[in-house]
Amino acid sequence: MSNILEMKNISKSFPGVKALQNVDFSLKKGEVHCLIGANGAGKSTLMKILAGVYTKDEGEILLDNQQISIKNPSDSMQLGISTIHQELSLIENLTLAENILLGNYLKPKGGFISWQKMNKEAKRIFDLLGVKVSPTMPTTEASMGLKQMTEIAKAIRSDCKIIVMDEPSTALSTDEIHKLYDVIALLKKQGYTIVYISHKLDELYAIGDRITVLRNGRWIITDHIDNISQQQLIQHITGRAIEKVQKHIQRF
Ligand SMILES: Nc1ncnc2c1ncn2[C@@H]1O[C@H](COP(=O)(O)OP(=O)(O)OP(=O)(O)O)[C@@H](O)[C@H]1O
Ligand SMILES: [Mg+2]
Repeated sequence: MSNILEMKNISKSFPGVKALQNVDFSLKKGEVHCLIGANGAGKSTLMKILAGVYTKDEGEILLDNQQISIKNPSDSMQLGISTIHQELSLIENLTLAENILLGNYLKPKGGFISWQKMNKEAKRIFDLLGVKVSPTMPTTEASMGLKQMTEIAKAIRSDCKIIVMDEPSTALSTDEIHKLYDVIALLKKQGYTIVYISHKLDELYAIGDRITVLRNGRWIITDHIDNISQQQLIQHITGRAIEKVQKHIQRF
């Protein structure tokens, strides 16, 4: 299957830090691609370049084999890329529906906001995701799981084809994580392509099709998840043989 997205030779430096050095990353349509690496490996930076939060210093990005330029978050969204950042972006004093449709309902025809339409649309998207909740719930009252679902609903509403989830399971309960897996499976069935960033190896084996490992800002490996054992994965992430990693863990 051909790649819908390719990031080639991506480099990015911050003052005193080479966050990414010649990193390659590609996505196939409809896959769940897990991006993994230790703290500071460069995962969020790579995805923030795709999201238009940061601009790359070097490299190129192709979408459907066409070279594209992403200068800001609006470029990224218009290209069909939606990112759920590690720091969630919901506005706490709005309702869930307002958060999902923010940016759309603020520009109504004739100057009226149709709250009814907005809540109905939010409910339709929640139903699609199998989430039972009132769209008029204030966001402050929502659990982390529900906030994550609202972010996903917001992504779907923006008409994207690629959804990037940066450590979505952090702060979720076990039940909420399983619900998230179900929603990811559903999205995959509908043809969405998903990037899933996580530190938790069991999650990657539960939902991932392919995996890319970054270490110290460098690309290490991309492969089908079935081709890599957990031990090999730990070696790729840490750069050390497993016996040494175990010794390291024992020592600290
Ligand atoms: N805005 C920034 N300014 C300066 N340095 C940054 C900035 N963003 C990231 N970095 C640095 O770039 C490197 C890569 O960070 P990044 O956040 O991409 O890592 P990560 O793999 O997402 O880590 P984590 O698992 O902790 O989220 C780190 O050394 C980090 O400190
Ligand atoms: Mg990160």
